[in-house]
Amino acid sequence: MKRRSFVNWGTAGLVALWSAVGVSLAAVVRFLTPSVFYEPPQDFKIGSPADFSYGPPTFLAEEKIYVFRDREKGFAVASAVCTHLGCTVGYFQSDERFHCPCHGSVFDADGTVQHGPAPRPLEWFEVTLARDGQLRVDKDRTVPANYRLMV
Ligand code: FES
Repeated sequence: MKRRSFVNWGTAGLVALWSAVGVSLAAVVRFLTPSVFYEPPQDFKIGSPADFSYGPPTFLAEEKIYVFRDREKGFAVASAVCTHLGCTVGYFQSDERFHCPCHGSVFDADGTVQHGPAPRPLEWFEVTLARDGQLRVDKDRTVPANYRLMV
């Protein structure tokens, strides 16, 4: 074997070796990177109290919550996630109840189950007033259905 040919084979071997190392490292990085994204923040601001009207609750689709505002009672925030399989419930002013479109669960205005298959009432989340005057909701902190924030 000529010396020049040996050098070319050696170079090709090194290239192949480093390629294999690169592919292996890429596989390790891919393995350590989660395939799903983490949940959005559970603690967020929803605007100033003046942004919400009295009467029927305001539905915030992105946050999947209903914001209730009552002159005497104040603010309350209910989850729009059905406790059966997680569909988004709708609030109907006509009967003042939440209805789940997926399997027909019905919840009272305070979130209690009127009829299933939902196994539990809707959750209520803590709402507070942030220093900048905006309403802040913390979905990690559930509160009783009669919890209200007076502003
Ligand atoms: S997801 Fe609401 S009743 Fe099934």
